[in-house]
Amino acid sequence: MTTTPPGVATKLAEYRQEHLLQWWDELSAEQQNSLAAQIESIDFATVQRVWQESPNAAASLDAGVDRVQQSAAPKAVVLQPSSEADEAQWQRAAEAGTHLLADGKVAVITVAGGQGSRLGFAHPKGMFPIGPNSSRSLFQVFAEQILARKRRHGGEIPWLIMTSSATHSETIKFFEQHDYWGFDRNTVAFFQQGSMPAVDASSGRVLMSAPGVICLSPDGHGGLVTALKSSGLLDRMAKEGIESFFYHQVDNPTVIMCDPALVGLHTLNDSQLTTNVVKKQHPMEPMGVLVDIDGHVEIIEYSELDEQQAAGKDASGQWVFWAGNTAIHMFSLTFLEQLTTGDGQLELHVARKSVDHIDTEGKLIQTSDLNANKFERFIFDALPLATTALIVEGNREREFNPVKNADGNDSPATSRGALSRIGREWLATAGHSVPETATVEISPLTALDAKELASSLADGRVTVGELIKSPAEK
Ligand code: UD1
Repeated sequence: MTTTPPGVATKLAEYRQEHLLQWWDELSAEQQNSLAAQIESIDFATVQRVWQESPNAAASLDAGVDRVQQSAAPKAVVLQPSSEADEAQWQRAAEAGTHLLADGKVAVITVAGGQGSRLGFAHPKGMFPIGPNSSRSLFQVFAEQILARKRRHGGEIPWLIMTSSATHSETIKFFEQHDYWGFDRNTVAFFQQGSMPAVDASSGRVLMSAPGVICLSPDGHGGLVTALKSSGLLDRMAKEGIESFFYHQVDNPTVIMCDPALVGLHTLNDSQLTTNVVKKQHPMEPMGVLVDIDGHVEIIEYSELDEQQAAGKDASGQWVFWAGNTAIHMFSLTFLEQLTTGDGQLELHVARKSVDHIDTEGKLIQTSDLNANKFERFIFDALPLATTALIVEGNREREFNPVKNADGNDSPATSRGALSRIGREWLATAGHSVPETATVEISPLTALDAKELASSLADGRVTVGELIKSPAEK
């Protein structure tokens, strides 16, 4: 039996969470250390504050309704080119972006801390085999894209991967197993986001899943801001001359990594935060939408809109909520630094969830009741804090094909189908039509776009046969 570490009992007493030590004397030394570390990681003052504020659900609902009513379609949008002048603007941006990439001014942030429970894959989502022919993982697709960009533009591109306690060690092991796909390891960094505990919705008590184990989950992608700072990576990137970050989610293999046009538009417009959007396919599609509220750019999450609101049109007959967030952003380094000053935290959102836990006798309670509050920060809450925020329309078919659900929309089948379709389109541009029944997979190292594929085929670096699989071979 060991005594509790100094200060822990006092801290818990202050926030009326003493029950977390109820089984202390029965735990092994290892379990005690682990529990002490879990307690240490929790900001109890914030947990108490948000729990005290969260029962006031009616007030927060009203605030949501107000936001929806005040929303207008966003104004500062660079649409896909539809004229020669637009083409020229995009071309200038791509050239500017190319220079920035050549000068090593851009780093990539991949957010990979989510648990991917909707997909039903019991590993970090980045390990998911997405290649239609090769089964290469999402992480490998991103690694090859970054390697290909470095090769094309010549500058270094540091790759920062945000993990959580749920995904950290398995992710690193996976990179080790694949020898980092040939990366210089000094240019890849993993940093862990924080955790937040689940609390009993009626009492505010932090829940435990076993005697030495607190119910903790990742603190949302908004945890990026503090995690990037506290890991020292933000300062290191500043020292290395990085000026902006290309941010993307781990679930979309068709993201155009470090898209030079997006990088260029962000910089030429002196934007602090730039967001790539695509037109929603139907009003209730589960995407956040960018809107203008009171002169600021903000996101309305899909859960905040009912069917009638989602289909709302403005005086010109256009959908107000058209601009779907692809979660591809550019952040200026100075803006992220600015976000870390003050209390350095984005606001916490509360979600009511079913959380299995042990009761006061240590008995496991499995429940489907919405018994607990969980807390998350969203990175896009930084949008209204930006003095200059830019929205750029992307090409949906080309760059937004995420894997979110096990079946149906945004599933492995639709995402692999998109990779194959894009491959067929590039082959057709290069003069090689292949049947729709053939699956095509083009490694980013073979080509990043149709033009590069055409020259790779022309100079014999790759053959059509290497890129396709006909149904008989599958
Ligand atoms: C998200 C966006 C939505 C957008 C859509 C585009 C939110 C709340 N909504 O929806 O506006 O239109 O993507 O695909 O994000 N993650 C972490 N740590 C966490 C939680 C999530 O790193 O604590 C990462 C996940 O690994 C994933 C990404 O964030 O890469 C998205 O998270 P998810 O909760 O799946 O968001 P969506 O509901 O798909």
